[in-house]
Amino acid sequence: MKVFISGNIAPVGLKQLEENNITITQWKENRQITAEELIEACKDQDALVSVGPNKLNAGFLNACKHLKVIALHSVGFDQVDLDTAKKLNIPIGNTPGVLSGATADTAFLLMLAVSRKAFFSHKKIIQGEWKNYEPSPELGIEVKGKTLGIFGLGKIGLEMARKCAAAYQMKVIYHNRSRNEDAEKEIDAEYVSFETLLSQSDVLSIHTALTPETQDKFTIDIFKQMKPNSIFINTARGGIHNEKDLIRALEEKIIWGAGLDVTNPEPMDKDNPLLAMENVAVLPHIGSATEETRAAMAKIIVQNVVAGLKGEQLPFEVK
Ligand code: DGY
Repeated sequence: MKVFISGNIAPVGLKQLEENNITITQWKENRQITAEELIEACKDQDALVSVGPNKLNAGFLNACKHLKVIALHSVGFDQVDLDTAKKLNIPIGNTPGVLSGATADTAFLLMLAVSRKAFFSHKKIIQGEWKNYEPSPELGIEVKGKTLGIFGLGKIGLEMARKCAAAYQMKVIYHNRSRNEDAEKEIDAEYVSFETLLSQSDVLSIHTALTPETQDKFTIDIFKQMKPNSIFINTARGGIHNEKDLIRALEEKIIWGAGLDVTNPEPMDKDNPLLAMENVAVLPHIGSATEETRAAMAKIIVQNVVAGLKGEQLPFEVK
């Protein structure tokens, strides 16, 4: 059996695939594979491990209907046309659970980095602008005891909420399509309407999937409903916020700051005005990029590939 891997996965995954007598072909170039190249690369393969934002749309799936399984190197699956995959009987696997802690760490890191203007201050040192001790430079704000709003309280949102409640006794409010009663019990999270989430959150952290319903959800009208001293954090998908509107909301001080691990588009242009703002911290989509999490993701990928090649139910299948 043969698998094509469209990027890098942790070595443990490659080793385990080999141990299962699966022949690996891997995309090694330092750029994202194009749609045409991906179709060509999958021509003689039995399985695909999809690393990165390749669009697995109807065009791709119809051209590669011979694939027995597609294992995503992500928990997110917004890049896949699930209806077409289902029609063609191609099972799609993802990597839920194992990356929740690392991704929530990234949201937490961004929250602190924004609140203390850390990236901006670091840049000043690099630019030779640290001349003397200044007791009141661009001052930050503290998050202790403030209200954390979670948009999408699933596994990752819950991890973020736990950290903020434990470290800073933050009150947690959330908005979901359905209530998360376990989280309500565990961390005393309060379910609120979307409008209340906007008007009461001091830090609003996005942990929902990108769907037609959440696409472009955070526009200027939405930012205007947030507190002027609030911080917007997005570690989910860049498509959930409208980036031009976010820039305007920050420039016009409609909100106080923003921390992004995901941007729209990705990669972000180096001249993007967000990168020059004091109260903004941007990371290049590294939410789950730790040794431990990448290894755990690779092991799940192997389980999905092996099961798919045997025609068995995937242990982590996107439905
Ligand atoms: C995920 O797992 O969805 C990460 O954002 C990587 O795409």
